[in-house]
Amino acid sequence: FGYRQNIFSPTALPYDDEQEGLKDQITIHFSHVVAENTPKGIAAEKFAQLVEEKSDGRLVVQVYPNSMLYSDDNELKALLDNEVQMIAPTISKMTDMLPNWQVLDLPFLIENNEQLKEVLNSNVSQSLLKELDTVHIKGLTFWSNGFKQIASTTPIVEVGQFEGKKIRMMPSNILRKQFTLLEAEPVATSFGNVYRDLQNHVVDAQENTISNIYSKQFHTMENHITLSNHGILAYAVLMNEQFWNGLDEEYQQIILDSLEEMQDWQFEQAQKFNEQNLQDLQSDPNVIIYELDETNKNQWKEQLQPIYKHYENTINDHYLDDLLDEMN
Ligand code: LMR
Repeated sequence: FGYRQNIFSPTALPYDDEQEGLKDQITIHFSHVVAENTPKGIAAEKFAQLVEEKSDGRLVVQVYPNSMLYSDDNELKALLDNEVQMIAPTISKMTDMLPNWQVLDLPFLIENNEQLKEVLNSNVSQSLLKELDTVHIKGLTFWSNGFKQIASTTPIVEVGQFEGKKIRMMPSNILRKQFTLLEAEPVATSFGNVYRDLQNHVVDAQENTISNIYSKQFHTMENHITLSNHGILAYAVLMNEQFWNGLDEEYQQIILDSLEEMQDWQFEQAQKFNEQNLQDLQSDPNVIIYELDETNKNQWKEQLQPIYKHYENTINDHYLDDLLDEMN
């Protein structure tokens, strides 16, 4: 990566090798928390490749996966401080800063990939991205990682099996409400700590996409997987606003063109990764996979119903109406 770690300060920022003839090269440091072989991991690399090609090497994106530079807990501050120039956090992690974004975490709202693609490319998503202006972040686009499933150390198929489960969640009020309604015990921890928390029995279940479960080997401990598709996992691709404003228009256009060019590809790759990783899990004799049948799904939905009234009473509900219109 052109990254030589300073042994005295492991978080020392990478610096750009001054290469002859490229001294006006601009480097975008892109930090994220998942493995390279995931929908977000390959999307970041694809973005880097397109930007470098379109700028003839004058604009370079250095990607730092696996929380190697910053974790969930500090990547947003690193972006705001221009320590890194890009991150792509799951939408749930932005809901403290932008409560209206909770609409995308409502359970069983988006039912399939067609609806998910429509929503992520809809006017509603554009309006949600625009809200980032109010917190001085440049919102570029949304990427997909498909649908969330349940992974657990014991079966969770009937809704009653959530009761008392210490379930890891991303820090989000609407997700806390979701798991409280399911009578689980939600535990908010960063993605980088989930494996350790499972080993130490701090948590014994989580919701996540198949690609996140498989790429971090969570299934070796949470070997009961319920294909619930109860929620989506999407990423907000963010850039430091001051860095964006400081770019020549030509470079801004290269960034927007690169993201536009890869948008459909990224959505398809997310679908492929989750399908492939599900096959990988299905071939693992230690993993038990449950489909959520209509009876159980209706029980989950019934128990979660109050979350919609909660949402409408506490958050800007025109987004919910707009999303429902978009999908119908
Ligand atoms: C999680 O925290 O489980 C996910 O948001 C990680 C990711 O970035 O996909």
